Amino acid sequence: MRTEHIVHLCCPSCRSGLTIVDGNSEGAITEGALECERCGSIYPIVRSVPRFVPEENYAASFGLEWTEHARTQYDATSGRALSKQRFFEETRWPYNLQGQILIEPGSGSGRFTEIAASTGATLLSLDMSVAADVNFATNGHNENVLIVQGDITQMPFPYEYANRLFCFGVLQHTPDPRQAFLSLPRHLRPGGRLVADVYQKKFTNYVLGTKYWVRPLTRRVPPERLYRLVRRYVDLMWPTARVVRTIPRIGPTLNWRLLVADYSRELGKEGAIDDAVLKDWAYLDTFDMLSPQFDQPQTLGAVRRWCNEAGLNDVEVVVGYNGIEIHATTSQLGRS
Ligand SMILES: C[S@@+](CC[C@H](N)C(=O)[O-])C[C@H]1O[C@@H](n2cnc3c(N)ncnc32)[C@H](O)[C@@H]1O
Repeated sequence: MRTEHIVHLCCPSCRSGLTIVDGNSEGAITEGALECERCGSIYPIVRSVPRFVPEENYAASFGLEWTEHARTQYDATSGRALSKQRFFEETRWPYNLQGQILIEPGSGSGRFTEIAASTGATLLSLDMSVAADVNFATNGHNENVLIVQGDITQMPFPYEYANRLFCFGVLQHTPDPRQAFLSLPRHLRPGGRLVADVYQKKFTNYVLGTKYWVRPLTRRVPPERLYRLVRRYVDLMWPTARVVRTIPRIGPTLNWRLLVADYSRELGKEGAIDDAVLKDWAYLDTFDMLSPQFDQPQTLGAVRRWCNEAGLNDVEVVVGYNGIEIHATTSQLGRS
């Protein structure tokens, strides 16, 4: 981490300031520690990333997933501007956010970190897993990016601090999605903008969503073992998946039902996209649907109730990217 970024951090337990107690005080710190000025808690900096949770925790499958697929979903790798398009369409934010502070909880490998950083804003990214290391390796060199390993419900960033916060693909993977959501607005200044998404709970999820039939078993398999099994399964199924994909209209959906993540709709069919790219996304997202400890879709009604409970303004809860999209602003009066 860059030493000047210390101003963006605080103790996640008592909210007081942190000081650098170990590590060089100028430039960047690779190994060192941060100490809370009030309660004395110590937070290590390991491999340039401040750690506010134990390195290994319930999100370990994501750590493995993003380590194996550090760049798979980056636009430069796929040759498609999918992350850029989704970031600006889902947030509805301008391309230039110079002078603003953004928070990104659950950054994964950092495909959206890269895009958000390109707006010129100061970006505070956090992930519970060692995906934080993966993100650091790609985006940590940016002067305007701080990456930490921490928990969305206890973020080491000050309250009423950021202008904007986006949280993509994370809430359903936390032990308590409501609690995770409710912990977000307090980090925003009055009138700050919040965009988040969460899987949508529908009857068809459970009837046709084959992943929910097998997840009770697969989520218990150690991530390394499951990842090897997923690769073998995708390799075995790939010739069939290539045929199924050509069935008009329903082909890719059928592949998802057969537990082969099929991104041919988004990336392009054979001929238009390298088969190896499609297959890499299939390894990644097949593992992503079977491995997480938590996968808890929500109803539109439940999400609207969360927004009410949080006292948010200008609330829009709509079906969109990743299921349900939430757009809101925090009250102009600040937190009560
Ligand atoms: C499906 S990935 C999404 C990553 C990224 N936002 C994207 O859309 O590419 C979910 C991420 O949320 C992280 N995560 C899960 N629980 C978390 C928590 N309690 N606090 C912070 N991050 C968490 C996981 O480690 C994982 O990297």
